[in-house]
Amino acid sequence: MTRNEIKVAVVGLGYVGLPLSLQFARSGVSILGLDIDASKVDALNRGQSYIKHISAESIGEMIQESRFSASTDFRRIREVQAAIICVPTPLNKNREPDISFIIKTGTAIAPHLQQGTLVVLESTTYPGTTDEDLREVLEAGSGLKAGAGVHLAFSPEREDPGNPDSKVAAIPKVVGGYTPACLERATALYAKAIRTIVPVSSCRVAEATKLLENTFRGVNIALVNELKVVYAAMGIDVWEVIGAAKTKPFGFMAFYPGPGLGGHCIPIDPFYLTWKAREYGQHTRFIELAGEINTAMPQFVVNRVAEALNGARKPLNGSRVLVLGLAYKPNVDDDRESPSYVLMDLLKHRGAEVAYHDPYVPVIRPTREHPHWAGTESVAWTQRTVESFDVVLIATNHASVNYQELADWARCIVDTRNAMAHVKTPAHKVWKA
Ligand SMILES: NC(=O)c1ccc[n+]([C@@H]2O[C@H](COP(=O)([O-])OP(=O)(O)OC[C@H]3O[C@@H](n4cnc5c(N)ncnc54)[C@H](O)[C@@H]3O)[C@@H](O)[C@H]2O)c1
Repeated sequence: MTRNEIKVAVVGLGYVGLPLSLQFARSGVSILGLDIDASKVDALNRGQSYIKHISAESIGEMIQESRFSASTDFRRIREVQAAIICVPTPLNKNREPDISFIIKTGTAIAPHLQQGTLVVLESTTYPGTTDEDLREVLEAGSGLKAGAGVHLAFSPEREDPGNPDSKVAAIPKVVGGYTPACLERATALYAKAIRTIVPVSSCRVAEATKLLENTFRGVNIALVNELKVVYAAMGIDVWEVIGAAKTKPFGFMAFYPGPGLGGHCIPIDPFYLTWKAREYGQHTRFIELAGEINTAMPQFVVNRVAEALNGARKPLNGSRVLVLGLAYKPNVDDDRESPSYVLMDLLKHRGAEVAYHDPYVPVIRPTREHPHWAGTESVAWTQRTVESFDVVLIATNHASVNYQELADWARCIVDTRNAMAHVKTPAHKVWKA
């Protein structure tokens, strides 16, 4: 490493941390990837990927050029000039923010921070996490003062997994610092790898920006989900309505209905704000209402499945239902918070025999929320298998699925994604939900 080169640690090598690491490495920054999961660290050091849309070649290339290495040894923080934290921020079982991963990371790195190290938090969280919670553990564990001994900043991630046009370097990066000097350091760091930096006045503004972006999506998805139900009762197809509305060249942005919210962000992040708002005696009514509408969607869909079966004089109880798509969005292998699990639970609860097909999820890994599905395998995509089900429920519209085969093979289809819109299918076979 020459005198002008810097070394940066990325802590948490998941869907956010790994692509960010690779982008920095490609830009000439030496990256030390830190994670508590030794199997991920080993895989990366062998040049293997565990995320579908990140190629093993891109990791191997960076290792060969000595730009990237991974470790579980947090003492190595002393080697770096900056540390970027990308650890999970889930909700606990009472649906309250769980920032324990951030606190554990802060506690683990603090004793090894050197004078002048920059620490940036990227995990989505409520305003105040960086300059209250994280600052406290860093100062206590390092003996350094934020803004003087250690620099502190927040910069939210804007990852769009599965979108081939979404490149880390091209997505503008919002950055807020604890002090103007912290902001300057953080801005200079990100400018090495990302084209457009958007500095804001504080860590809290940066944290609040991310929550606005995700709440905006949650609320608008709830609106179209509600309209889906209302318009269906009027015999109007909401998909056709949205298609027409989005021809308006200004003042409208299309959002689409679905079987419920999924993924690590939209169903979770707005509730970080709800929780923090209470501390200030404030209520987040839009967020609560949107949450209510979105969480009611799987029940609406299951009722449509029952209705579709009823049309064929069959009860849901005892019928064979194939859920098509387990990932929460098309063309990814990420099944976190996927509404497909809720659909499968509800269907099973009402006596249906449930199976799934997902080309990206060959077998269900153990999850905290749905342990009873662990080990279940995706059924084969063959005519014999598909026609053995009474109904196929499209939960995720993966592009690699052959929908014409589905139209030809399935006895009945319930479509929550408008995937059959342009496929030749006898009208009575498809039920929109
Ligand atoms: N996935 C997305 O599309 C997305 C988009 C924007 C923001 N975010 C936010 O980014 C953050 C990370 O999300 P993700 O999707 O990358 O999560 P992830 O679960 O894919 O990855 C998190 C990684 O952190 C590791 N980890 C957990 N505890 C750790 C610790 N104490 N020290 C070091 N490593 C630890 C895990 O082993 C895992 O590899 C979350 O706050 C999330 O809300 C995610």
